Amino acid sequence: MANPERLLAQLADGEYYSGEHLGALLGVSRAAVWKQVKRLQNLGAEILSVKGKGYCIAGGLDLLDADLIRKHLQEVEICKKVLVNLQLQLDSTNQYLIRKSVAGESVHRQVCLAESQSAGRGRRGRQWHSPFANNIYLSMGWRIQEGVNTVGGLSLAVGLIVRNVIAELGIAELSLKWPNDLQFEEKKVGGVLIEISGEATGACDLVIGLGLNVKMPRSLAQEIDQAWTDLQSVTQSMLPSRSKIASQIIVSLTQLLAHYESRGFAAYVQPWEKACAQIGEKVVLQSGQKQITGIMRGISHNGAIKLEVAGRIEEFVGGEISLRGV
Ligand code: BTN
Repeated sequence: MANPERLLAQLADGEYYSGEHLGALLGVSRAAVWKQVKRLQNLGAEILSVKGKGYCIAGGLDLLDADLIRKHLQEVEICKKVLVNLQLQLDSTNQYLIRKSVAGESVHRQVCLAESQSAGRGRRGRQWHSPFANNIYLSMGWRIQEGVNTVGGLSLAVGLIVRNVIAELGIAELSLKWPNDLQFEEKKVGGVLIEISGEATGACDLVIGLGLNVKMPRSLAQEIDQAWTDLQSVTQSMLPSRSKIASQIIVSLTQLLAHYESRGFAAYVQPWEKACAQIGEKVVLQSGQKQITGIMRGISHNGAIKLEVAGRIEEFVGGEISLRGV
């Protein structure tokens, strides 16, 4: 049986390889190669099969490299205990870690990455489009002791540190949209979804999920029901590899989480507001069935949005803002 990861790694350089050549490289028959090609195609890998030339991925692929990510993490003291798991496909990287947590396994400091998700989850029950080997789908498990009240604002802080990583890598200056969207010129580039496994009031596992559009295939444009873009489209420079971006995000995330329970969100309020594009703008907050129109004045120490409504500042914890209809 050919190993699909090895076959994919071989084809990632964008060259043509005959079935025979691939079979010899992987120590399997041509039929076994063909079977794995089909399997990879079913996951969404665009492998061409051309008579007389063989198999090829036109333009090549920037695959995630788990060994490279692990090596990078080993160089940072605080990340030495972080475990990295990379899969070709999962239903959802968040769900994968939640399943483990529910089964009683420790997910603390565990990172799960997938090249694609068949049931990627967004906030408010939305689907997160997760095509193969183009973006970043990352989840990290973290055990907290004192209940979710001690980690108020965490999803905003995660958005902020991801924004900072993207800026430090020289890719782009993304902005933040409350509560935890990463945007470029009002188009969504990424989002954060934190889920909890266990008792919300006591010790429990957080699963912090991040989806980041790196190089979204244009063919998905019609399927996504909100304005979006990707890092490839907004950068002025050469994109670093997805492994490099993911590694830096994991380092920053670990640093954030290691101190968050004791330090909280307070130190992130100002930098978050500075990176937010809607401060001072008229927005509509959709919170449950309610729609509240007001001017966004900032965020509170626990991540609630501050809206000026009829001359008074009010705070709202949940919901989603839009500029639509204002
Ligand atoms: C949002 O709606 O803005 C949040 C999107 C979060 C998507 C990520 S992708 C990795 C992780 N696994 C999931 O199923 N969802 C999160």
